[in-house]
Amino acid sequence: MEVLVFKDKKEVANKFAAYFKDLVSGNEVMHIALSGGSTPKIVFDLLASEYNNSIAWENIHFYWGDERCVPPTDEQSNFKMTTDHLFSKIVLPKENIHRILGENDPLGEAMRYANLLEINLDRVDEIPQFDLVILGMGDDGHTASIFPNEINLWNAPDHCTVATHPETGQKRVSINGAVVNKAKNVAFLVTGKSKAEKVQVILEKTIGYEEYPASLVQPSSGALTWFLDTEAAANLK
Ligand code: 6PG
Repeated sequence: MEVLVFKDKKEVANKFAAYFKDLVSGNEVMHIALSGGSTPKIVFDLLASEYNNSIAWENIHFYWGDERCVPPTDEQSNFKMTTDHLFSKIVLPKENIHRILGENDPLGEAMRYANLLEINLDRVDEIPQFDLVILGMGDDGHTASIFPNEINLWNAPDHCTVATHPETGQKRVSINGAVVNKAKNVAFLVTGKSKAEKVQVILEKTIGYEEYPASLVQPSSGALTWFLDTEAAANLK
């Protein structure tokens, strides 16, 4: 595991965008799971403005680690956020975008998406393998849409699961822990002082760390990189 700390959110986005470009610069087809959240938004803006012409976008297939169960036109939609900040600004075949259909019945959609991952991705030990999974971490230690009060969903069968946001009750479709941990690369983008407490507990494995879904991100053979800003890393020794 590598923990990288940068000055601020903007620098995290800069360094992550460079890491992303390196990762996709070979000629092979890449399958990448995106996340929602505030840091990815800045990363997408940067990729669109600075890397528009230097990345072979046609080689990249985009998926999501989680999606809110809302229509694709809703402001809450992770797909909409990515469209507004990235897809609308680059040349990407629309066949390369594999969104979770947030407008559909959540359970049926989790099954459909799991099946789609089985078909599109290589499988290792029966688990679909992403080249890269991008994750955020909530202030409560959640990641993708696996929340602390539903941490058992990390071990849900069949690649994808339906989660419920603990405060709003909003349904979410999320990949499960097996899919996260089978990825070749996993990158956490975590910024801001509201994350400092959980970052310290999880990275330094202090009491109770296992209660946070983000602590369960431990790729079995892939590389895990945490991209933090100084605020999120403030409590680390
Ligand atoms: C989502 C996410 C979620 C997010 C974290 C961090 O769709 O809600 O995928 O896991 O990454 O809540 O979000 P911030 O970067 O905005 O703090």
